[in-house]
Amino acid sequence: AAACPVTAPVSGAAGFDPFGEAYQADPAGSLRWSRDGEPVFYSPELGYWVVTRYEDVKAVFRDNVLFSPSIALEKITPVCEEATETLARYGYAMDRTLVNEDEPAHMARRRALIDPFTPARLAHHEPMVRRLAREYVDSFADAGKADLVDDMFWEVTLTVALHFLGVPEEDMATLRKYSIAHTVNTWGRPSRDEQVAVAEAVGKFWQFAGTVLDKIRRDPSGPGWMPYSIRLQREMPEVITDSYLHSMMMAGIVAAHETTANAAANAVKVLLENRTVWEEICADPSLIPYAVEECLRHNGSVAAWRRLATADTEVGGVPIPRGAKLLIVNASANHDERHFEHADEFDLRRDNAADHLTFGYGSHQCMGKNLARMELQIFLEELTRRLPHLELAGDQQITYLPNTSFRGPDHLWVQWDPAANPERTDP
Ligand code: HEM
Repeated sequence: AAACPVTAPVSGAAGFDPFGEAYQADPAGSLRWSRDGEPVFYSPELGYWVVTRYEDVKAVFRDNVLFSPSIALEKITPVCEEATETLARYGYAMDRTLVNEDEPAHMARRRALIDPFTPARLAHHEPMVRRLAREYVDSFADAGKADLVDDMFWEVTLTVALHFLGVPEEDMATLRKYSIAHTVNTWGRPSRDEQVAVAEAVGKFWQFAGTVLDKIRRDPSGPGWMPYSIRLQREMPEVITDSYLHSMMMAGIVAAHETTANAAANAVKVLLENRTVWEEICADPSLIPYAVEECLRHNGSVAAWRRLATADTEVGGVPIPRGAKLLIVNASANHDERHFEHADEFDLRRDNAADHLTFGYGSHQCMGKNLARMELQIFLEELTRRLPHLELAGDQQITYLPNTSFRGPDHLWVQWDPAANPERTDP
């Protein structure tokens, strides 16, 4: 039967709204119509071609010359003049980092800078992540309720990010204030007033990132990815440019922080909604790495990414003109039945869970993926061990920051009976 034209929600390309509630709460579900009927469509509202099937999203990621990542950090909402002026006043000049750099510059830089991400180097961070996770669980274990976002994930992932980058301890508090503004600035749809406020915060973030960078430059002998990059700049100044360093000093914090905080909240939410799975990982923590991968697939924290077509081409049989902008929806690809059987189900033993596209794919695939996996694994180990009787607080309305790409609940309230904490009953 035909849907009632008066009450039916606007569906199809014209109704696609990546700043609306349906997309925020469930990007894959809100795009099922597309995967099933029109897997590549033009969104007039956004001015982007939207790609939603697994094979097509992967194909776009795979060819980073035909589909350039140069627009990955461009503001998706054109800003008003006042906001532009505000950013200019702060000398804001976010430019190419890695994620939005074209070849051959990108690969030369990525190869030069990859060493701090190798498993052996990452292992150094494990005790810090474990200690932080324990301290934060300690701080609320007796309370019986917590907002896991504000009370743990947001803080721990930021501290880990700042340590990984090598930010001096005394500057961490200031940087903490700014990071969210970049997400709204880049992937959000702020109103005029918000644009100016966000521009102020982004401008201050940019300037402060520069100050911190200068400080590290004066003594780059310390640990961390930014001091490492500065040391390397002496050998290859044309690969590791000043513009790169300043841009990465700011973008790197967001890349390492919000993505991972969101991933942790998304993971706990979906696990508690699938109680038997939660109980299984409580009983057998060796299953946690599988749970992490399936959480990243089922409820990942990067919902969509962007590419620019550099020549006339086609995606999934649909002609795409040179200069077209593409929004490739990883979250939709991750729920594509054509690749993942019973894709909407959470399956701890899914044999191809790691095929998910939450970290992207190909030559730009997330460099921090194993750091993120380590954090998620440790958080789940600590929470399942200390608070296996954890449950989602029933009376909460879960909200998301409206933006195309970075996805996680603003708050995640959980509750438990502290009298039943295992450490009390079996110390
Ligand atoms: C790139 C997701 C955590 C650093 C990316 C990309 C995605 C992504 C989608 C673009 C991939 C592409 O274009 O193919 C995530 C998610 C995370 C996470 C979902 C957490 C769950 C981290 C962490 C770091 C990090 C902890 C640590 C610094 C980077 C870097 C790139 C990148 C440097 C650029 C790589 C390149 O262009 O060669 N990430 N990320 N990410 N990520 Fe992550």
